[in-house]
Amino acid sequence: MQNEQTSNNKLTTKKSSFSSKLGLVMAAVGGAVGLGNIWKFPYIAGDNGGGAFLIVYLICVLLFGTPLLITEFIIGKQSGRSIYGAFSSISGNKRWQWLSWSCLAATILVTGFYLMVTGWCISYLIDAISGSLVQTEDLTSHFADLSSNSGLLLLYSVIGILLTGSILWFDINKGIERLSKILMPLLFIMMIIMAIRVLMLPDSGIGLKFFFQADFSKITPRIVLAAMGQCFFSLSIGFGALITYGAYMPKDQDIIVTSTQVVILDTLVAVLAGVIIFPAVFAFGLNPAEGPQLVFVVLPSVFAKMHMARLSGIIFFSLLCIAAITSILLLLEIIIAFITDSTSHRKHPINRHKAVVITSIGIFIVCALCILSVCGTPSWLKIAGKNLFEWYDMTTSTFLMPINALATSLFLGWFVPKTIIQQSLATSPFGKSKYGQQLFLFLVRYLVPFFIVAIFINGIIQLGA
Ligand code: PHE
Repeated sequence: MQNEQTSNNKLTTKKSSFSSKLGLVMAAVGGAVGLGNIWKFPYIAGDNGGGAFLIVYLICVLLFGTPLLITEFIIGKQSGRSIYGAFSSISGNKRWQWLSWSCLAATILVTGFYLMVTGWCISYLIDAISGSLVQTEDLTSHFADLSSNSGLLLLYSVIGILLTGSILWFDINKGIERLSKILMPLLFIMMIIMAIRVLMLPDSGIGLKFFFQADFSKITPRIVLAAMGQCFFSLSIGFGALITYGAYMPKDQDIIVTSTQVVILDTLVAVLAGVIIFPAVFAFGLNPAEGPQLVFVVLPSVFAKMHMARLSGIIFFSLLCIAAITSILLLLEIIIAFITDSTSHRKHPINRHKAVVITSIGIFIVCALCILSVCGTPSWLKIAGKNLFEWYDMTTSTFLMPINALATSLFLGWFVPKTIIQQSLATSPFGKSKYGQQLFLFLVRYLVPFFIVAIFINGIIQLGA
């Protein structure tokens, strides 16, 4: 009874958002495609040897992507709950409550640094508009100045959280989804134009070789662990993001097709980002292992070579900011749904508006600590020589996301009645077939958990060595 009440309560607040199937796909794609594809993927790939990383990344996407997205969608759709109540309500026992908290922890930490990087993007957009970006010669020190300017970054993160918080407060996500239906394809087209321009640069072949030529002897357990973490981050796996969206999924939506669409589009954008960045890196004599500033140092040099350099920069950074904002909306939604769901049975439940305020303030604090730590003041915000951005990132990508993904897979495979899984898969012809169902069960029960554990243990051993 309690389950019913809470799920109804939550569904009615957002039901209208996903009146169409395409709406949900676009929202899931909008949430998945973001800084992870355009900012994080290139620098992690650059740090981990390019081609060797790409091949492992694609294998991870194939192996984990679709099955884990399907897993999260099934749990969300069948429970109709946020991550707070999804696991316990679907399995009928409270033993899985830790997983809800672990997903929440991953979401909070990721949102903390995501908002900071969105602030970097906002700053580059403003510089592009003012024209100062095209005139900047030393892009490395330009980025260094920005990332150590705590006052400015705090201001941008306030703007970012006020913007996203207001969108959720006024419940205008539907408008944003409509907008992103137009803007996401535009981002893709813009990236294709940039890729073509980059490929015309002298020496672009060296960069392409770096990115596409897989040297298998270079694959190490550390690279495999990084690829798995990046795959989860980019596809938003291990946060309960798709559980949250699954709860609003139209009944007859084909989960398999939806998941495959999200995986394909997300991967295409990441690979395209690599095709832009690496040829440019080599053409301009930069280092692919630059770290988090990679795209911020490389992209402005690409615009400088394009027709209408200033306008190109403005268009690209506007679209990047929008892609970041749609991802933050999903991240915040996970936390807000958690808060309303977890307090819905109390005498004084926290309503959606209050939850939006609490979440926005909380995330701002987590982000502010991250910004101050990256800027280096106060010095005690660095722990064991690493700043909080590195800690947030490592804790989530290396530990929380793989652990959450592993637990979610085992949970669905072993602790959820088979009939529930069969029923959820039955919306697609392949999922209806005996072969499809057996394959899915084999994946979530054995194959996916086995590989996550193997990659995790090997990677940790090497990290420790
Ligand atoms: N997948 C997003 C990206 O690649 C990040 C994200 C993670 C968004 C979890 C929502 C939930 O940028």
